[in-house]
Amino acid sequence: MLSVDHVGYAVKKMERALKALELLGYTFGDVIADSDRKINICFGEMNGYRIELVCPQCAGSPVDDVILKLGNTPYHLCYCSDSLEEDLRDLIKGGYKVVIPAQEAVAFDGKRVVFLYSLAVGLIEIVEK
Ligand code: NI
Repeated sequence: MLSVDHVGYAVKKMERALKALELLGYTFGDVIADSDRKINICFGEMNGYRIELVCPQCAGSPVDDVILKLGNTPYHLCYCSDSLEEDLRDLIKGGYKVVIPAQEAVAFDGKRVVFLYSLAVGLIEIVEK
C-alpha cells in the first residue's frame, strides 16, 4: 500500500531555493549531505504537504540531467510503501521501469529508496516506511 510522501524539486542553488519557498510559507529542516549520491537534501513542509529540495554537490549527481534540461523544477513525486517488494512487483508488472534500484538513503535514516519511470506519468520515487 502506498501513500504520498513528498514532491521532489531539483534546484541549482539550495540557499536561493530555500528563500524563495520560505516566502511561500514552507518551513524547512536542516540540509542533509548525501555524499554517496553527491547531493544535498532539505525537507520542507506546509499545511501537511512535504517537499524535498535536491541540490547537486558537484558534477555527477542524479539531478544533473533534470537541471540541464528543465532548470529548477519539481521532478518527482515520492510515495511511501509499507511493503516495498510487493509494491515494486505490482508497479513493474504494470509497466513501471526501475531507473535507480533500491538503495539505502541517508536522508531517510538508511531506509531504502527506489526510482521508477513510467512513460505515462514520468519519474516517481518509492521509499520504504
Ligand atoms: Ni524524493
